Amino acid sequence: MEFDAMRPILDGKVVLVTGGAGGIGTAACTVLAQAGARLVISDIAQETGHNIANALCDQGHEAIFVPADLSSEVAIERLVAETMSRFGRLDGAFNNAGMEQGNTPLDKITLSQWDRVIQIDLTAVFLCIKYQVPAMLQNGGGSIVNTASGLGQIAIPNAAEYVAAKHGVIGITRAAAADYGAMGVRVNALLPGIVRTPMLERLSNDASFSPLIEKMKMRHMMQRFAEPHEIGEAAKWLLSDGASFVNGVALAVDGGALAN
Ligand SMILES: NC(=O)c1ccc[n+]([C@@H]2O[C@H](COP(=O)([O-])OP(=O)(O)OC[C@H]3O[C@@H](n4cnc5c(N)ncnc54)[C@H](O)[C@@H]3O)[C@@H](O)[C@H]2O)c1
Repeated sequence: MEFDAMRPILDGKVVLVTGGAGGIGTAACTVLAQAGARLVISDIAQETGHNIANALCDQGHEAIFVPADLSSEVAIERLVAETMSRFGRLDGAFNNAGMEQGNTPLDKITLSQWDRVIQIDLTAVFLCIKYQVPAMLQNGGGSIVNTASGLGQIAIPNAAEYVAAKHGVIGITRAAAADYGAMGVRVNALLPGIVRTPMLERLSNDASFSPLIEKMKMRHMMQRFAEPHEIGEAAKWLLSDGASFVNGVALAVDGGALAN
């Protein structure tokens, strides 16, 4: 598609957002809708998800909520199928749902805790891409944005399962970019710094993690945390035709934390 600077940058594009009821996801839905996207919002949190879709529709945007538990391959397949049956196309996907670590050193992580975080933070991204790509190819291509983390490139103590999963998200992003770039599907990752969301609130309430938070704030060169919409803005650009030659990138949106 030819780039036209006068059109809203996601004008008419059908975009699927996972974790749409969470902090970054909700803010991203507003940013993407305002840029003209038609949204399929998904989350395990049904009531919040429905409310977000309804609020966007009330503001004149096009959005539906489709619940899905991303720990299930069948649910992910159904989510993409439902998107295709409702809109007939899939142009963009923001694979953003995720969960935090349990804040214990590696030798105290149970196998079930490891499996759960790898399942939601990494395997679900694999499965989303697996079903999204064929849907996108039906209309000539698309753009996928996966939410990794700064912890996809560096580590902090007591977060091995999350750090491993997010390193994996960057890996699968690059691998998928290599598989599908020539076919017109771009795949990129966002690496947020610390963002003011319910996930951060939960971590702040954990006495074993909260002392790290202030320390990490100083690592952000801008010496503040991100607002959720600042991550949504980066997703918007990567999903748009403005980023038409951006593929396989791990883009830090972290106020300079990884550069410090
Ligand atoms: N907040 C931060 O500081 C930060 C930093 C770097 C990366 N991230 C990443 O950003 C993404 C969004 O995080 P957030 O801070 O908005 O967190 P959040 O907890 O506010 O939102 C996460 C959303 O994912 C959904 N979710 C969790 N498990 C699910 C499942 N099994 N099926 C479907 N949906 C599920 C939750 O219901 C929630 O709405 C995550 O991938 C997170 O790892 C967050």
